[in-house]
Amino acid sequence: MKKWAKCLYVFTGALVLTGFLAVSADAKISAETEQCLECHAERMPGLIEQWQYSTHWQAGIGCYECHAAKKGEVDALDHNGFVVATIVSPRDCAKCHPKESAEQEASHHAKAGDILNTNDGLLGQTLGGEPAVAVGCRQCHGSIVKVLEDGSFDPATWPNTGIGRVNPDGSKGTCSACHTRHRFSKEQSRKPEVCGKCHLGPDHPQIEVYNESKHGILYRAFEDKLNMDKPKWVAGEDYYDAPTCSTCHISATPNLPVTHDVGTRLSWNLRAPISARTSDWEKKLSEMKDVCNSCHGDSFVSGFYRQLDEFVDLYNTKFALPARDIRALLMDEGVISKANFDDKIDWIWWELWHHEGRRARHGAAMSGPDYAWWHGIYDVAKHFYTEYLPEVEEACAKAGKHALYDQIIAKYIDSDPRHAWYTQGFDPKKVEALKKYYKDRYDQKVD
Ligand code: HEC
Ligand code: HEC
Ligand code: HEC
Ligand code: HEC
Ligand code: HEC
Ligand code: HEC
Ligand code: HEC
Ligand code: HEC
Repeated sequence: MKKWAKCLYVFTGALVLTGFLAVSADAKISAETEQCLECHAERMPGLIEQWQYSTHWQAGIGCYECHAAKKGEVDALDHNGFVVATIVSPRDCAKCHPKESAEQEASHHAKAGDILNTNDGLLGQTLGGEPAVAVGCRQCHGSIVKVLEDGSFDPATWPNTGIGRVNPDGSKGTCSACHTRHRFSKEQSRKPEVCGKCHLGPDHPQIEVYNESKHGILYRAFEDKLNMDKPKWVAGEDYYDAPTCSTCHISATPNLPVTHDVGTRLSWNLRAPISARTSDWEKKLSEMKDVCNSCHGDSFVSGFYRQLDEFVDLYNTKFALPARDIRALLMDEGVISKANFDDKIDWIWWELWHHEGRRARHGAAMSGPDYAWWHGIYDVAKHFYTEYLPEVEEACAKAGKHALYDQIIAKYIDSDPRHAWYTQGFDPKKVEALKKYYKDRYDQKVD
């Protein structure tokens, strides 16, 4: 008996025994797929093994049902008597999963391949270089897959499972960015590691933040008690111990369905230079609160959001807005050029919002105190006071515009009591209190 057929037999037997499903899975494998299996069992046994563990296999969805293509399609290949395409795009999955595909298409994930004309794009292409963009940016964001004349894919653009990949059929995204082939498992996609391929690092450390949060700690402690392998997975009904990325951004609550548009529960844009509310943010906020409420009480959740909103406001008003406006003024006054990345100030500003400024906001939004403070606002403040403002002074001096620097300090720094210490020094009473504190606490002398 052939390997897959034997497997089917055993599986069908198990189903009959448990009375779980009366139909024989055996009967469902199409004649076309049987032929794919004949060869591929030899050539790619691992792939078939993975497929046999999938719900697709149980439902009789085989190689042919996903890979079949029509003659004339850009990436169609003549293949041993069949016409197949290697890429099974979101549009192909949409034939059977219209809801998930439409939501995915409406999300920012689907737009992530469109990064060429951005500041990050300028950095990648000009300061880095094309090969670095191919193995870096595009493995997360997605490539524009190019089909060569012989029907094969341009190796500069393939393989790739970036989240906003532009497919030969024009559709955007890759379902296998999260549902790794050929298991296409819900269980796997519910785990935080799935998102951690892309959501990490100096400019968007969501997985690191999550790992240090109470939620991440509990996930590791109780991973095997979260019922992640069950078809139904509703927060507060099927599990209580910990939320994962998917819980908060994708999965169902007793009141909300699963969504493949990961933006539907976000009230802030936390990755922008200056954070602003998203469109229709009140509705989105109430949906995220609904997620939290599956496990927490109302006042706990409101308290959390109050802390987050005040923190975002602090980042915006104390640091980001003045830094942005000062730089714009220096450009208008001809002290620095209008281009990005050709003045030292451009780089300090870039890291201020794109690295530490984002880390801070992501830390605050997902309960990672070390990212909110030490990798976050601490770095923002340090760079604002000890690099940005000194560089502004130096650039003005070089341009012979000392008065401009004085105007900047008066307008953006002295006008805000939160910056008073920068020009006036620390309050002597506070300095004395500090010394006394260390003396009383550690019997330590402080200079
Ligand atoms: C006569 C044997 C045979 C049959 C029948 C067959 N395949 Fe293949 N297939 C192969 C071999 C061999 C390869 C090449 C493997 C390699 O690249 O090393 C291949 C490659 C592929 C690829 C990758 C192509 C690429 O260039 O990336 C896909 C997708 C594929 N097969 C799907 C199918 C599907 C779907 C069916 C059934 C409709 C099928 N095959 C039927 C032998 C077969
Ligand atoms: C549910 C749909 C689905 C089914 C069923 C399916 N595939 Fe695939 N297959 C995909 C997707 C998606 C990819 C990844 C291509 C992409 O990134 O879009 C892929 C990729 C491949 C590749 C190229 C990747 C590589 O690692 O070389 C081969 C070969 C392949 N499939 C063969 C098969 C065979 C043989 C079967 C039957 C056992 C099968 N597929 C069943 C969706 C499917
Ligand atoms: C020909 C129809 C068909 C196609 C094409 C198809 N699927 Fe499915 N898919 C199904 C069916 C049927 C199920 C089982 C539904 C169920 O159990 O409720 C399923 C289940 C799933 C599941 C749930 C798995 C689990 O762990 O329960 C995922 C994820 C999935 N499909 C993803 C995809 C992706 C991604 C593609 C495209 C690469 C795809 N499907 C293409 C029919 C299809
Ligand atoms: C490790 C994966 C990864 C790499 C590598 C990567 N990015 Fe990103 N990028 C992301 C993620 C994740 C986000 C979303 C950040 C968030 O929301 O916190 C993002 C955000 C962005 C944004 C902002 C999009 C928006 O709508 O606001 C741009 C533009 C961007 N990246 C371009 C690039 C470019 C260009 C490169 C290479 C020079 C690159 N990225 C490298 C994962 C990556
Ligand atoms: C950002 C990651 C991600 C991407 C990309 C993604 N999915 Fe999913 N998908 C998930 C998660 C997580 C779940 C499990 C939700 C739950 O039940 O908790 C899921 C569940 C599913 C299910 C089962 C739905 C149900 O209610 O049981 C299907 C079907 C599915 N996805 C299809 C797709 C298709 C088709 C695509 C591409 C158009 C896709 N997914 C892209 C993360 C993703
Ligand atoms: C292959 C890379 C990749 C994977 C995997 C991935 N993402 Fe993303 N994600 C991105 C990129 C890139 C962006 C920024 C898109 C943009 O705005 O251009 C993003 C944006 C987001 C956003 C912001 C959406 C918005 O509307 O502003 C959320 C939330 C998100 N991802 C959650 C998740 C979750 C949860 C998972 C895992 C289930 C996940 N992502 C998996 C790359 C990825
Ligand atoms: C306990 C729930 C929860 C968990 C777990 C969680 N997040 Fe979030 N996430 C949030 C909240 C709350 C926000 C901010 C919501 C708002 O804007 O109102 C957010 C924001 C985001 C954003 C948007 C950032 C931006 O630039 O605007 C991304 C991307 C993201 N999360 C990804 C992830 C990833 C990846 C994981 C897992 C490693 C994860 N989240 C885990 C609740 C969660
Ligand atoms: C699946 C259940 C679940 C969901 C959903 C959930 N949490 Fe939690 N959360 C917990 C558990 C359990 C704890 C641990 C309580 C403790 O510290 O004893 C926790 C702890 C916390 C803490 C305390 C952190 C600390 O370090 O003390 C905060 C804040 C928090 N959650 C906020 C949220 C927010 C905001 C949301 C929604 C965006 C949310 N949670 C969603 C289960 C959940």
